[in-house]
Amino acid sequence: MMNPVSSSSAVNIGIIGLGHAGMSLHLPKLCRNTRASILAVADIQDERLTKFSLAYPNLKVKKVRDYQELLEDEKIQAVFVTSPTPTHFEIAMDALRAGKHVFCEKPISSSVEEATQLVQEAESRSQSQVLMIGHVIRYWPDYVAIKRTIDSGTIGEPVIARAYRAIRMPDGWEDFYGKSDQSGGVLFDLSIHDIDFLIWCLGNVSSVYAQGGHLSGRGDRDLIDYAQVHLDFESGAMAYVESNWAVPKSFPFTTAFEISCRGGMVSVSNSQAHSSMELTMDDQEKLIRNPWERDGYFLEEDAFLDSVTSTPHGSPIAPKDALYSLKVANAARESIHYNGKEVFPK
Ligand SMILES: NC(=O)c1ccc[n+]([C@@H]2O[C@H](COP(=O)([O-])OP(=O)(O)OC[C@H]3O[C@@H](n4cnc5c(N)ncnc54)[C@H](O)[C@@H]3O)[C@@H](O)[C@H]2O)c1
Repeated sequence: MMNPVSSSSAVNIGIIGLGHAGMSLHLPKLCRNTRASILAVADIQDERLTKFSLAYPNLKVKKVRDYQELLEDEKIQAVFVTSPTPTHFEIAMDALRAGKHVFCEKPISSSVEEATQLVQEAESRSQSQVLMIGHVIRYWPDYVAIKRTIDSGTIGEPVIARAYRAIRMPDGWEDFYGKSDQSGGVLFDLSIHDIDFLIWCLGNVSSVYAQGGHLSGRGDRDLIDYAQVHLDFESGAMAYVESNWAVPKSFPFTTAFEISCRGGMVSVSNSQAHSSMELTMDDQEKLIRNPWERDGYFLEEDAFLDSVTSTPHGSPIAPKDALYSLKVANAARESIHYNGKEVFPK
């Protein structure tokens, strides 16, 4: 049964999956958010539950191994699904059917078929429940500044974009990241951040072609851990997305994005200490726009809590958008499979 959420009270939350995303990315921010009250956590590994107890000794919450126990708790109104990608479908589906609002980490699933079913389920419940997929770049302050600059029209129509994202494939890759059918490789895990952001800015994709391969020697032999993706948009814009999981362990997480519009160019990169955006226009000195705190996770969680507590509900990131981003990433995978063939995502 659904426990209705009032706009004035904190949302009672359960977290499913206490790995990097659950423990390091979401928990610390949710603990800081006065609109969130964590009631329970679930993880299939005892060791993770113990680690949680040691890290948060003052957080008196229910700790369970089976997430179903958490879903049966009527006090819990919303869940964060931060478990491995291949579990997203089953857990998010069960959570929706148990009447919970659901925040689920990206990608929505490693299977387009599963993602399609999940979107159908979420849409049939959209009057009373929220499903939000964590495409955090839509909340990353410097990327948000890019989107606002484009939407303002001050630098004209966007025409060419370039995105780069590199980090070594996460430790523990033997569990799921290194298995092509479970994580979807670098395309579903890293490239999808930039693909989703580009679609948000530039609209639908008309065709995709990509090259890539398995460079690191870690994981399945058919795992794509490096990819170059070219996207053509229905608007006539084009973009290049390069993603690399095959860098050395000591290589710092590196991201960069630039977009050329008819009247100027905006770019961001995480190489500065603070997040900021550079605006370059003809006959003008380059402008550095505000350094911001980098806290996209807090901001996306806050947007989720907003949608849970407001009526009508409306997911801040429509589930069908997350499905579409997955389809484009999947088209890139198909293109690599056929050695750069042009693929038309539907
Ligand atoms: N948005 C981002 O920036 C970002 C960053 C990292 C990871 N992610 C996403 O978050 C998800 C998790 O990634 P991760 O790096 O935290 O993985 P991880 O392996 O570090 O952690 C996953 C945790 O889930 C637990 N788990 C597995 N099956 C479970 C189940 N059925 N019930 C409860 N717990 C279960 C595991 O025991 C583990 O503790 C992935 O989909 C990944 O793509 C997103």
